[in-house]
Amino acid sequence: MKFFIDTANVEDIKKANDMGVICGVTTNPSLIAKEGRNVTEVLKEITEIVDGPISGEVKATTVKAEDMIKEGREIAALHKNMVVKIPMTAEGLKATKVLASEGIKVNVTLVFSTNQAILAANAGAAYVSPFIGRIDDINMDGMALIEEIAEVFAIYGYETEIIAASVRNTTHVTKCALAGADIATIPYGVIAQMVKHPLTDQGIEKFIADYVAVFGE
Ligand code: E4P
Repeated sequence: MKFFIDTANVEDIKKANDMGVICGVTTNPSLIAKEGRNVTEVLKEITEIVDGPISGEVKATTVKAEDMIKEGREIAALHKNMVVKIPMTAEGLKATKVLASEGIKVNVTLVFSTNQAILAANAGAAYVSPFIGRIDDINMDGMALIEEIAEVFAIYGYETEIIAASVRNTTHVTKCALAGADIATIPYGVIAQMVKHPLTDQGIEKFIADYVAVFGE
C-alpha cells in the first residue's frame, strides 16, 4: 500500500521523505493556510523534496468550472508531478473532465459517498479522496465507504486510485489497507506513531543491556 503525507509543512515532508515511507503529498486550502505561506512557493518547494504525485488544490473560493480549469492548468504547469485537487461538485466534475482530457491528473476531493466516487471516476479523475475521519466524526462508518468504493472500482475495472483521506490514527491506516484503499494520505504525527511499538523499544533496550554486559560500551 502506498502512503502520501497530508500536510503543507515542508519540514514534516522532509522527515517522512527521508524515512523512505511516502511517495506523494496531499495539501488542501486549510493546510496551506495553517502554514501562512504563499501556495505556489510551498508547492514548488514540495516538488523539490518528493518525487511523486503532489496534490495542490484550486483556491477555496473558486467555484466555477472555468475558473477551476484555469487554476488547474496553472497548478499542473508548476511541475510534472503536480496533481490538481478539485472539490466534488457538479462544477468540479466539469473541470475534471476538461483537465483529464488534457492529460492533467485530477484528485477529486471531499468525497463522502460511493456514488460521488463513481461520478469522479467517470469524469476522468486519476484519484478520489474519501474522507474517513470526517465520516466517523458524524457517527457513521468511514471505513465502510472505502470498502464499498474499492469493491465497485474492482467490479468495473476503474483505474482511478482511492486515496483514503482524513486519516486520524494508526488504526485507520491498517483498516484502510484491509479495506482496499490504494493509498492512505497521513499526517506526520500518525506516521510517527506508526513507527513505534513498545515491544520494539523494549527489545532495543534488552539488546543494548545484553551487549554492554558482555562487551561494554
Ligand atoms: C485530504 O487530502 C485532506 O487534505 C485531508 O485528509 C483532510 O483531513 P481532515 O479531515 O483531518 O482535515
